[in-house]
Amino acid sequence: MTAPMKAIRVESPGAGYRLVLADLPRPKPGPGEVLIKMAGAGLNRADIAQSMGMYPPPPGAPDTLGMEVSGTIAEVGPNAGVWKVGDAVCALLGGGGYAEYALASIDCLLPVPKGVGQVEAAALPEVYFTVWTNLMDTARLKPGESVLIHGGSSGIGTAAIQLCATRGHTVFTTAGNAEKCAACVSLGATRAINYREEDFVDVVKAETGGKGVDVILDMVGGDYIQKNMSAAAIWGRIVNIAYQQGMQANVNFAPMLMKRLSLLATTLRARSNAEKRVIRDEVLAQVWPLIETGSIKPVVDRIYPLADAQAAHQRMAASEHIGKLLLKAD
Ligand SMILES: NC(=O)c1ccc[n+]([C@@H]2O[C@H](COP(=O)([O-])OP(=O)(O)OC[C@H]3O[C@@H](n4cnc5c(N)ncnc54)[C@H](OP(=O)(O)O)[C@@H]3O)[C@@H](O)[C@H]2O)c1
Repeated sequence: MTAPMKAIRVESPGAGYRLVLADLPRPKPGPGEVLIKMAGAGLNRADIAQSMGMYPPPPGAPDTLGMEVSGTIAEVGPNAGVWKVGDAVCALLGGGGYAEYALASIDCLLPVPKGVGQVEAAALPEVYFTVWTNLMDTARLKPGESVLIHGGSSGIGTAAIQLCATRGHTVFTTAGNAEKCAACVSLGATRAINYREEDFVDVVKAETGGKGVDVILDMVGGDYIQKNMSAAAIWGRIVNIAYQQGMQANVNFAPMLMKRLSLLATTLRARSNAEKRVIRDEVLAQVWPLIETGSIKPVVDRIYPLADAQAAHQRMAASEHIGKLLLKAD
């Protein structure tokens, strides 16, 4: 008989959703999979949308919330390559992370970087897969170029600031209060813009001598779609990973023509394991060494017991956090 495990179940999906601890069967790893005994699980804003019934997991992924975990390998399936029971790992998942055990494809598996705690390692996969592929593959960020990262104090933003600053880019970022702006500067941002008090287009233009920025990573959308075009330099690339302020906008496309801009958008979760493996290899080769030498650190806001997932969601929904919110196994 399959052993049970504790996992978080979404009760009453919708605006008043509740996250409750429940018993689920412990999954068995199939070919190319491992079973991870969870030490830490990362929250992502998409988990809130999923709990509200607005963001179903991709086909084949578990219904349980959770797109990243860290822990130790408890069991390996057939063809699991070099991985063995007891290895300390973290992984990007299609789902299933809010649980004592989670299945991961070996294509999305990484060792816990040296110097990073077993629980804290859960803060790394989703942000660095996303930031790396969107800045480097999609926006083709080149050495010496400037960037604007919206939502600098988010999980994604704190990772993007550190990666870009460490690689020598001038980094502009937006955040919603003075404390968040100060955190962004301490992570390496050249200039943090309190978007409630300052116009980011004016600041970017003033600080770049009117040129604008080469690459913009945006999770806001809405009226930022037009404003990003104003803040972009000639041949600028704007990549959206979310549209929190709206997917629709009345846009004047003239700056696209006049400045030869590219408007891009991607999602990570629905991509094939083969695509994710290519990103994993780049993250392992390019980002992991920066973490192991201490140039980049996981930015962890708070760690909650798995059973308190609802409280963690409330903190994220209220946008009170700076960096990543995590769950831990006990
Ligand atoms: N496409 C993909 O593959 C992909 C992958 C991962 C994440 N994402 C998306 O990326 C976003 C960040 O994810 P996360 O998990 O890191 O979430 P998070 O920590 O909750 O961050 C959301 C951020 O949005 C910021 N924000 C909201 N309105 C803003 C505005 N008008 N101007 C500037 N910033 C604003 C918030 O900043 P304040 O609190 O200061 O307002 C907050 O820092 C989410 O929307 C998520 O769905 C997409």
